[in-house]
Amino acid sequence: MDLRSLEIKVSRSENLPVLPQIVSQVLKLADDQDASPKDMERIVERDPAITAKILRVANSSYYGLQQVSSTGRAISMLGMNAVRSLVVGVAYQQVIAGRALASHFNKLEFWRHSLGVATGARILAKLKLPMRSEELYVAGMMHDVGLLVMDRFHPLELDKTVKFAIEEGMCLHDAEQLMFGFDHSHVGAMLADKWALAPVIADAVRYHHDPMSDDENQQSTLIIAVANLLAHQCGLTNNVPGQPNEVPEAWVEQLGLPAEQLEIIKNVMAQEIVKAEQAFGIG
Ligand SMILES: [Fe+2]
Ligand SMILES: [Fe+2]
Repeated sequence: MDLRSLEIKVSRSENLPVLPQIVSQVLKLADDQDASPKDMERIVERDPAITAKILRVANSSYYGLQQVSSTGRAISMLGMNAVRSLVVGVAYQQVIAGRALASHFNKLEFWRHSLGVATGARILAKLKLPMRSEELYVAGMMHDVGLLVMDRFHPLELDKTVKFAIEEGMCLHDAEQLMFGFDHSHVGAMLADKWALAPVIADAVRYHHDPMSDDENQQSTLIIAVANLLAHQCGLTNNVPGQPNEVPEAWVEQLGLPAEQLEIIKNVMAQEIVKAEQAFGIG
């Protein structure tokens, strides 16, 4: 399989899969005259596919005077009505496209993991790069977005890969490399480049499995990489339990984080998942 053909498919269809529970919340909100922009923001910022869509449009040449890398800014720039119709558009397309979905790659697990990493990244950023905390929340939300592209266009192959990774107890990205010849970080980076997302977000997506290779934005990418492993430790394993999830000592040292802070972050992550599940009626 090659990345180029996936790139062409992405150009033809820009919407990525959204959870049905979120779709129904979006449609309910769109009908509700009393819903506030804050209600919409709370949905937008808690879903990777919707975040991707809003940033994609905010960074398009029509609006793109400068790069937008937080959902709050994107919403205020596009305006509530535009956001509402974009989000409803994504949601409806999903309903219409309803098809057999991958069984091993569970999107609910993907969503929980993305939200956990975003939450952890925001806390780590507040400690280490406070100016970037919103941007890093978005980067955390989107770090595995390549998986949504793979699920959208190659659901059966992704399914097989997830099953293989579980059976072999290996990292999902290593299994992808074997089955596809590339992994979700390459796919996500292709998307980030194509959509002209901010370099901090694009680099986090590209290097989150190997942050030490990131020469440009190493601190922020390290934050995403650490948040990713903490989420795995919390049981937010993105469909592949049993992957190695120890945070390398060198990463913690480079970031300058005391170990007890990592435990606090994991607790907050777990709480945020419960809160969001309640908000979206996910059991
Ligand atoms: Fe990943
Ligand atoms: Fe991840």
